[in-house]
Amino acid sequence: MGEPSRVASAFSGANAYAQYAWLQRRVADHLAQHIRQQRTASAQQVLEIGCGTGFLTEHLIADNPHADFLITDISTQMVQRCRTAMDQINSPNSQTIHYATMDGQHPSIDTTYELIASSLAFQWFDDLDASIALLSTQLEPGSMIAFSTLGAETFHQWRSACKKANVPCATPNYPEPDALNNRLSKQATFWMHVERIHAEYPSAWPFLQELRHIGAHRPRSERQPASTGRFRALLRRLEHLGNFQATYQIIYGILTV
Ligand SMILES: C[S@@+](CC[C@H](N)C(=O)[O-])C[C@H]1O[C@@H](n2cnc3c(N)ncnc32)[C@H](O)[C@@H]1O
Repeated sequence: MGEPSRVASAFSGANAYAQYAWLQRRVADHLAQHIRQQRTASAQQVLEIGCGTGFLTEHLIADNPHADFLITDISTQMVQRCRTAMDQINSPNSQTIHYATMDGQHPSIDTTYELIASSLAFQWFDDLDASIALLSTQLEPGSMIAFSTLGAETFHQWRSACKKANVPCATPNYPEPDALNNRLSKQATFWMHVERIHAEYPSAWPFLQELRHIGAHRPRSERQPASTGRFRALLRRLEHLGNFQATYQIIYGILTV
């Protein structure tokens, strides 16, 4: 199975996503606020990438009352969950909403957008800079790509616990905000804000279970998985240490062409 299919299948299986995705909901709310602050007028053509169950979609629909939307995700089940959730919102606005299964790294679209938005999906991309460059070719002049993604500090506690126990860590390497800022500022006008969200769990196990429930537990295929024995030993050791802290470093970015 290729990497995009592995990601799609993990998220398709996340039936309880909306129940466990407290962080994703909060980040989508914050991204929507940043978009409102950066955009003076509502958009007419909106593309969303990685819609999940629709936390950001709901804001996009409310904030762009006359827009045509293309709401997409790599997982067909996620698209369906989002559509079901959005159908329950009685919007008085005149909007056209289309849904599609699409890999945001290879967008199959032949139109341009005023706003391309994505909350917490870009961390699954193989080459974020190349994907952003490609997506920006789908923007009207003066339009923007607004996203949130994970930064390098994310899960540093888990990484260091794995390192100490000599267990391979499946967590991907996320971008350093300053380096990302430097690179994207060369492409176009780039605004960035970094937020750290700290979560505390009774132990490492509920932290890992939460990732599983939201479909974010699968290591990338090129990562060597830990042997079950070593992984269990690590969890037992962490269990003795009590509460487990996890930091999420969230990068909010808005690229205007
Ligand atoms: C952590 S969820 C976030 C979902 C939603 N935006 C939210 O804030 O709740 C990540 C979503 O990105 C989707 N995704 C992952 N890789 C993708 C890709 N290459 N193209 C489009 N969607 C992708 C997953 O299927 C999943 O629905």
